[in-house]
Amino acid sequence: MSWKTLDDMDLDGKIVLTRVDINVPVHDGKVSDDTRIQRIVPTIRDILSKGGKPVLVAHFGRPKGKVVPEMSLEVTRPALEAALGKSVGFAREDFKQAVDAMASGDVLLLENIRFFPGEEKNDPALAQDLADLADVYCNDAFSAAHRAHASTEGVAHLLPSCAGRSMEAELRALDAALGDPARPVVAVVGGAKVSTKLDLLSHLIEKVDMLVIGGGMANTFLAADGLDVAKSLCEHDLAGTAREIMAKAGTTGCEIILPSDVVVAEEFAAGADHTTVAATAVPSGTMILDAGADTVARITDAFEKARTLIWNGPLGAFEIPPFDHATVAAAQAAARLTEAGKLVSVAGGGDTVSALNQAHVAEQFTYISTAGGAFLEWMEGKTLPGVAALHAS
Ligand code: 3PG
Repeated sequence: MSWKTLDDMDLDGKIVLTRVDINVPVHDGKVSDDTRIQRIVPTIRDILSKGGKPVLVAHFGRPKGKVVPEMSLEVTRPALEAALGKSVGFAREDFKQAVDAMASGDVLLLENIRFFPGEEKNDPALAQDLADLADVYCNDAFSAAHRAHASTEGVAHLLPSCAGRSMEAELRALDAALGDPARPVVAVVGGAKVSTKLDLLSHLIEKVDMLVIGGGMANTFLAADGLDVAKSLCEHDLAGTAREIMAKAGTTGCEIILPSDVVVAEEFAAGADHTTVAATAVPSGTMILDAGADTVARITDAFEKARTLIWNGPLGAFEIPPFDHATVAAAQAAARLTEAGKLVSVAGGGDTVSALNQAHVAEQFTYISTAGGAFLEWMEGKTLPGVAALHAS
């Protein structure tokens, strides 16, 4: 790991421009899930305890370079104050004046940096303005590190830079899962569509020993194998691509695990009448909404053989009961093995965190990333500009 951490920096009396991701869900003017806010607390506390003054820079939504009052970061301030147990200043406009007015022990939050057109363009002038505010840059926003923006990338080249605690934990966990993992490695990739995960699948079959394909995207693979998936969600036009992936997996020695039995229903609705059938015998007029018990047993068997698990995406339509069974059962098996010290389990991306929360296993997994797009791009083997800039500085 060639990047610096807070331990490597002298922060006493220094202004620390700290990139955080507090792009959190808000309902009725209140933060409804503060997970991302909780994750940045150790970084802010460590900066304070080393005598630094944390100036938090972040985005909220996609205002596209314009001031959109509903996307003001002020809405996050009460949740931030509750998590930190102290008041947090807020700079709406004149950032320099607000920073200059900070006393030792203060925390300052800057207004949504995406209100500035230069942010998403990675405009060197905005990066310089940000650098001029501070002595040190700390990036604690892994989940925004796939964006080459002024506050995630540009500014890192202009100040002594380091990773914050949550960035550090994330990078270490990800390295343990795909960088230099204990083998065998099993990956679970689920979700609705193959088309959104082609790069991911192509990369994983080069890297992992077993690949479980679940959710709607498994139907495309079953259909490509010549099975009739009836009314199921399926990208028939990607049959050729699915066959290529399966053929390539054969040459890389990656075992692909597809559903052998499936739960089918006539309608996509909570509590719909359902039955479990062999994947080779999906009745006409029905759709596949979950994997069956035999498939879960095969997945559990793969987890037992593996020493490392990386998970992205649910195995079925987990948001409508009872079609969450396979996801919950497999997640619980992974949690048991992790607790027994037999498996390193890392999960993240999109729906994955909700699915694992639903299975009540979030605490038992080795690491759960709150990142969506960044986690996916990292799993695809792409370079994340925000992380690369830390390596370079
Ligand atoms: C996220 O919510 O995944 C991050 O905050 C990145 O947001 P973005 O997709 O708008 O860049």
